[in-house]
Amino acid sequence: MCWYVDGTLCFGQPSGSFPEKLDQCRTCKVYKSHVGDETVQLADSFKHMVSKLDISEKEIKKLEQKTQLIQASKMSTLGEMASGIAHELNQPLSVIRMGATFLSKMIQKGKGIQDEELKNVVKEIVGQVDRASSIINHMRDFSRIGVKATELDVNEPIRNIFGILGQQFKVRNIEVELDLDDNLPHIMADSNKLEQVLLNLVVNARQAIEEKSESGGKVTIKSFSDKGQAAISVSDTGNGIPEHILDKIFEPFFTTKKVGVGTGLGLSISYGIVKDYGGTIDVKTEEGIGTTFLLKFPPCSNAK
Ligand SMILES: Nc1ncnc2c1ncn2[C@@H]1O[C@H](COP(=O)(O)OP(=O)(O)O)[C@@H](O)[C@H]1O
Ligand SMILES: [Mg+2]
Repeated sequence: MCWYVDGTLCFGQPSGSFPEKLDQCRTCKVYKSHVGDETVQLADSFKHMVSKLDISEKEIKKLEQKTQLIQASKMSTLGEMASGIAHELNQPLSVIRMGATFLSKMIQKGKGIQDEELKNVVKEIVGQVDRASSIINHMRDFSRIGVKATELDVNEPIRNIFGILGQQFKVRNIEVELDLDDNLPHIMADSNKLEQVLLNLVVNARQAIEEKSESGGKVTIKSFSDKGQAAISVSDTGNGIPEHILDKIFEPFFTTKKVGVGTGLGLSISYGIVKDYGGTIDVKTEEGIGTTFLLKFPPCSNAK
């Protein structure tokens, strides 16, 4: 490496005094090329471009890692949702089975089926197939990467989540109270991503209640407007968060749960999603009493 050969000044000792006699390097014995300043500038700009390229590659890597983390956490929340989905799918499937069994019995007995009756049973079957496929489509949307923000009423993801998780909570003796304001300012967000945030919060709430006692508890989700913003609170009657870890809970990989139960990603990813939509996330907690997470989002510009 000498002179401006690769866009860098020679690290060796120049033989003459600057600027006239810088022809040969005393250390490397390489002559400075006289092709002129343009080459030097060109080399410099290449170097600059390469360094820029390096930065953007790093940024792309960072972005990729972030996307992978979000995807990983989504998959683990999907796992959480699995039993809820199974329950949801079971209902349309039983109705379809009942309808099909009825038709098959009537055929076996050789009894004719009245047109009206046949029409009703088939209509019911088709309706239930639609219901089942909308559940499956919803799951597919949820696991999709990078969906764009649209105008949204935050009650929509809240209702979606409890359609799926309601039964799971009931089975565990956890009461769920939804107190939703139907007149909220709309926000700019992606419903699936907000579902992911809410799912992380309610799964944490459930785990905190279960850690505290086996006799169940209560999760309350409210939506309300606060100074023109759309707010959501998720409260639980769990064991609360000890003061000394409060400043760590949003850090990636921070968890107080056993391996396999906690990944420590839920809150850090939720924090990132809320920030992406210009929102805030706060926590209030009392040890042994419970915890409330409060989310606030600015209204979208054409908010109602
Ligand atoms: N509702 C809650 N009640 C009590 N502790 C909570 C609650 N939500 C979060 N935490 C604490 O914050 C930590 C980080 O949460 P999170 O990022 O969701 O990761 P994970 O649930 O996988 O541990 C939890 O391990 C727990 O100690
Ligand atoms: Mg969690």
